Amino acid sequence: MIAIGGDHSALELKAGIMAHLRERGESFKDFGTYTEESCDYPDIAKVVCRAVLSGECDRGIIICGTGIGISITANRFKGIRAALCGDCYSAKATREHNNANVLALGARVVGIGLACQIVDTWLDTPFSEGERHKIRIAKMDED
Ligand code: RB5
Repeated sequence: MIAIGGDHSALELKAGIMAHLRERGESFKDFGTYTEESCDYPDIAKVVCRAVLSGECDRGIIICGTGIGISITANRFKGIRAALCGDCYSAKATREHNNANVLALGARVVGIGLACQIVDTWLDTPFSEGERHKIRIAKMDED
């Protein structure tokens, strides 16, 4: 199950990505926002991250205008590894190296075509299971 959420600026891109996820046969849960009314991206990041951390969802996709604010918020949650991606190379690398469990996108940065390619790459790339990467990921959560 994929958790997806975005602020008001991401409404259209989120709808396009959800249509794409449907075509892929993925199950997902939409955590909002559901209208064009202005909202605060940290609120969306929080509900998506909580769904991932609780195990309700396996991974999350979060979107705001730049992808920056929402990814900064997500990365404050211990156990969340949110990667802001604007290209497929990064989407692949962040799965292989960082085991990123949340993908952040900028709705004012990427178009629907590139966004779907990034989502596909990110969903289809497994973690490398490399020992050096496991050690580095463990260090992220150290105090
Ligand atoms: C909303 O206008 C915008 O600030 C937000 O979507 C995001 O880009 C913040 O990082």
